[in-house]
This record gives sequence, C-alpha cells and structure tokens, in this order.
Amino acid sequence: MRKKILAFGASNSIQSINKKLAIFAANEIEKVDVIVLDLNDFEMPIYSIDREKEFGIPDLAVQFKNQISASDGIVISFAEHNGAYTTAFKNIMDWISRLEGSIWDNKPMLLLATSPGGRGGKSVLTLAANLFRFMNSSNLTSFSLPSFHKNFSEDHGILDETLSDEFYKQLNQFSTSWEA
Ligand SMILES: Cc1cc2nc3c(=O)[nH]c(=O)nc-3n(C[C@H](O)[C@H](O)[C@H](O)COP(=O)(O)O)c2cc1C
Repeated sequence: MRKKILAFGASNSIQSINKKLAIFAANEIEKVDVIVLDLNDFEMPIYSIDREKEFGIPDLAVQFKNQISASDGIVISFAEHNGAYTTAFKNIMDWISRLEGSIWDNKPMLLLATSPGGRGGKSVLTLAANLFRFMNSSNLTSFSLPSFHKNFSEDHGILDETLSDEFYKQLNQFSTSWEA
C-alpha cells in the first residue's frame, strides 16, 4: 500500500514560502500519496485552559490530529516569527496536545524551515527539532533553506548544489524510515 505523507507549512500566510517548500519536499518522494494541510482551515480560538474547561477541545483540533494519526510520515516547514513558531501553528499544537496520546503520534518527521533571510528560520527549526525529538520516538530529520527567493525556484527546486545535496540526504533518510 502507498504511504500517506502529510505536508504543511507552519504558517497561515496565503503566499507561504514554507508551504511551498513542504509541498515540494513531499512531492519529491516517490510512490507516496501527499496530503496537504492549510493551517487556515484549522483556525481555532487562542488556547486557554479556561476555554478548554468551558467549551472543550474544538472539533478542528480532533480533525487535525486524525490527519496525523492517518499518516505514515509528516513534513512540516516552519515559518519563523520573532525567533519562534507562528501563532497559527503554536495554537494548533497547543490544542492537539490536549488530546490523548503523543502530539505527533510517533510518526517519522521531516522538519524544514525557510525564510527570505540568510538564517533560513534556523531558530524555529532548532526549537522544533529539540522539542519534537523529546516528544517523538520515531525518526526525525531536519533541513533549513536560507534565502528562499535566491535558492528556490518553483520549476527547478533547490538551486544551490550544496544545499540541494543536503536536502536530498535528509529527504532520503526520512523517506526510507518506514521501510526500516
Ligand atoms: C511578525 C513577523 C516576525 C518575523 N520574524 C522573523 C524572524 O524572527 N526570523 C526570520 O528569519 N524571519 C522573520 N520574519 C520574516 C519571515 O521569515 C517571512 O515573513 C517568511 O516569509 C515567513 O514564512 P511564510 O512565508 O512561510 O509565512 C518575520 C515575519 C513576520 C511577519
């Protein structure tokens, strides 16, 4: 059976460069079905313990978690806002963390980040990789693409050879993880 790969940019920007990178990465894996999520479809009230007590966990959080559970692997590309997660992503993560089980369901994960600047979202990627490694017992690989507009083309993918080599190394490690 073909594996199901969940892919999304951890951003609610309609033009999200991270969404583009996540979709590109997932589509580079052979013989898988790619399911793309848009965080705008999972907008919920800002998490608060009081809202949870009064109204419970929103259905959208359950739907998001169901997508994680139904997948064989997850590709996330993180937008960096002030050195950290976007509010849109963090809010979803906070809500789904209140559901049963581990947040990422121990699925293999490819964590990416890109930004228009030279650091390529390294701060948020480090934050996510450190946290998810601790939360998730499964395979976790990561890659940051600096200067997105210089280094990425919709037609040709990652233009810089050194960056491209590293990207495919990480992608290969991710895409073989469910065969091990
Ligand atoms: C509120 C805000 C904060 C930002 N903070 C950072 C930052 O800390 N580091 C960085 O590299 N880029 C930062 N940026 C620029 C983003 O990297 C850029 O907007 C990028 O396109 C976000 O990814 P996205 O297009 O996938 O949403 C920030 C942008 C916004 C709007």
